[in-house]
Amino acid sequence: MKNTVVTFAQAKQEQNKLTMLTAYDYSTAKLIDGAGVNAILVGDSLGMVCLGYEDTLSVTMEDMIHHTAAVSRGAKNALVVADLPFLSYHISTSETVRNAGRLVKEGRAQAVKLEGGTAFAEQIEAITRASIPVMAHIGLTPQSVNAFGGFKVQGKTQEAAQKLLDDARAVQRAGAFAVVLECVPGPLAARITQELSIPTIGIGAGAGCDGQVLVYQDMLGMFSELTPKFVRQFAPVGELMQQGFTDYIRAVQDGSFPAQEHGFEMDEQIVATLV
Ligand code: KIV
Repeated sequence: MKNTVVTFAQAKQEQNKLTMLTAYDYSTAKLIDGAGVNAILVGDSLGMVCLGYEDTLSVTMEDMIHHTAAVSRGAKNALVVADLPFLSYHISTSETVRNAGRLVKEGRAQAVKLEGGTAFAEQIEAITRASIPVMAHIGLTPQSVNAFGGFKVQGKTQEAAQKLLDDARAVQRAGAFAVVLECVPGPLAARITQELSIPTIGIGAGAGCDGQVLVYQDMLGMFSELTPKFVRQFAPVGELMQQGFTDYIRAVQDGSFPAQEHGFEMDEQIVATLV
């Protein structure tokens, strides 16, 4: 069954946990979709886990469209949510709506995600008015890494916690269909979740959220540059890949690959006649 924004609303009402994982290419999207996840996020984490940047700031609209289109071709049942990259929704409302529209029109995403709370309510309203569902993202918003002074837990003081609760209310009021809470202490995330009528999707925000999201390379041990505390490794795929690559090199070097069964036969007489 195709997941839609209605699935998200129903899950909140019926208290069913939502699942979301990132993907950036066709074959991974197909595997994740086949596992039955509710949503696939084409995150701008793309910049770090696929493109090797140290943060997400250099990711472009063209990067996002290219990878979103690949994921959309592989996702049959999951809702495809694409990130609006840094500076694609900060300049003007018309540019914001145009960029959100490109992710839907060219990338075939069914929703977009943007980072920010109260300060971005106008953008959420404008995109929603164009019939594009918006997932908001508050707490640790990686596009603000320079303003935060690093990747840090958010909302720990009374003032910061109140601001996050107000941000959550503001994005809901502006029309967001869901909100990601990243690196938010569990009790605050649970309080926000109770307060909102839209689902909260946590990453490093405890079990009290309506759903969870992880970057797939993190949960499969494929990205060692940064291992956040909130990640659980569900399968040692990174290790297996490394082993597979090493075995391939050894097999090529010792002549055991390719074997007879990997090749194509022909009449050897033909080869013998070649001059
Ligand atoms: O870009 C991303 O992958 C994200 C998730 C971490 C929520 O925004």
